[in-house]
Amino acid sequence: MVQARQRYLGHGFYAPVADALTARVLQLNLGSVLDAGCGEGYYLRQLVDGAETEQIPLKAAGLDISKWAVMAAARGEQRLTWLVASNAAIPLADASVDGVVCVFGFPVAGEFRRVLRPGGHLLTIDPGPDHLVELKQIIYSDIKAKPVYQPMPESSFELISEQVINFPIGLRTNDLVQDLLIMTPHLYRASSAGRARANALDNLNLTVDMRLRTYRC
Ligand SMILES: C[S@@+](CC[C@H](N)C(=O)[O-])C[C@H]1O[C@@H](n2cnc3c(N)ncnc32)[C@H](O)[C@@H]1O
Repeated sequence: MVQARQRYLGHGFYAPVADALTARVLQLNLGSVLDAGCGEGYYLRQLVDGAETEQIPLKAAGLDISKWAVMAAARGEQRLTWLVASNAAIPLADASVDGVVCVFGFPVAGEFRRVLRPGGHLLTIDPGPDHLVELKQIIYSDIKAKPVYQPMPESSFELISEQVINFPIGLRTNDLVQDLLIMTPHLYRASSAGRARANALDNLNLTVDMRLRTYRC
């Protein structure tokens, strides 16, 4: 899964998502950021590149429960601190970071609140209702409308902004379709017939639909 995500993200399909996250972090003037559930570090690297380009000082650390993901992230990337740990027990001091980023991750409100300094910000990115809808139409016989996913309980953080990130992409090889399938939960949820239909594709137009939310603690 780590390798599939590295290949897929390396093609730049989600570059507009990384750009939106980077712009928001820089706009909020966050001096230190923890990416909680950083995977192989794609978004954090883009963020640090963006801060360097703008000559804005930024201390950044990436944390993931998967040692394979963190090893992939740390390889060749000396600017950042990488941690193998769980969001349920973050190895950082209380009130020690200005921002926590959680992209398609597993947020733990109490721990995020503990490590954030008072007035700090939590930025989450999660799928919107139309995310990869064309893939879902291929692999599921029946798509049920789901309520919009809200990553944080209203009582724990104040939601201060929500940005819709919506754009089309086109996968033009079977390998790319396979990589996308491997990095989404759909591969495991689909029926064998649905998987077979997707596995046969070498061309797939998709909607990327995500929500970038900013919370204050
Ligand atoms: C869907 S991936 C997203 C990775 C990355 N943020 C991205 O968007 O490319 C979810 C990540 O959360 C990590 N993860 C799962 N449970 C976790 C936990 N309790 N604490 C920290 N990371 C966790 C997984 O290992 C995986 O890398």
